[in-house]
Amino acid sequence: MEVLPKQGAVGAEVIGIDVTKSDAQTVAAIRAAWLKHGVLLFRGQNLTPEGLAAFSAQFGELEPPPASEGGTREELGNQPVWYISNVKENGQAIGSLGNAEAEWHTDMSYLPEPPTTSILFAQEVPPSGGNTSFADMEAALDALDDDLRKAIAHRTVHHDSSTTSVGETRRGHDAVFDVTTAPGASHPALRTHPETGRVSLYLGRRRHAWIEGMAVGESEALLDRLWEHCAEPTFAWEHVWRAGDLVMWDNRRMIHRRDAFDPTTRRIMLRTQLCGDRPFK
Ligand code: SIN
Repeated sequence: MEVLPKQGAVGAEVIGIDVTKSDAQTVAAIRAAWLKHGVLLFRGQNLTPEGLAAFSAQFGELEPPPASEGGTREELGNQPVWYISNVKENGQAIGSLGNAEAEWHTDMSYLPEPPTTSILFAQEVPPSGGNTSFADMEAALDALDDDLRKAIAHRTVHHDSSTTSVGETRRGHDAVFDVTTAPGASHPALRTHPETGRVSLYLGRRRHAWIEGMAVGESEALLDRLWEHCAEPTFAWEHVWRAGDLVMWDNRRMIHRRDAFDPTTRRIMLRTQLCGDRPFK
């Protein structure tokens, strides 16, 4: 197995490995590369949902998928693999998030203990569009202006659980009209990585976020400035998918987003996530 760092800010490609055959030594090497680079790409993999779950489980306990417009966590809870897709079979969506753009976010940061890891496998991809970008929030914090860093350093951010990254209200939730009463969890705006000791910005997602203790207008203005900074291309790597790609990222350090794509084309992605830990400063 060889690890080739990406040329940009973040990420690496792992070559020479069939992940269905990874032994304990390989898993340890993948883990070390993942902690170092934040996001890893493995091309040319051939995975069933069970194979993805089995590979993922070598890195930790599987967290049940998030609720979406199509189902609550209880309804989806007994299946570890989450389908992200715009494909419909017999008029029924086979997965979540459709074909729309997904805004920058950290997976499931509205939980008290958000997943450490997300692992995404491309089963079928459209001819164009649907690219996924990953951005490094340690680098974003390092590059943050002093005044913005001071403004956010000791703050707690409330992370809304009502709405998906494509803006749909999850089944079992109400639309949010007041961010101060949104459901979800609160976390320090800066978090220390429990394994590397590095500190990153931890903002979750922009929509319905609130910096606790601030007037809503003040919080919105500060969040806008922070997100404008986080979205700078210099912190990011944009992945153009091929079927058979597997991408694994550190959810404590990275944010990600997805481009929209033509709804008449098909995209089927399978995702697992691993149980997390409570963020601390
Ligand atoms: C996600 O995990 O947020 C979805 C990313 C994608 O569909 O590429």
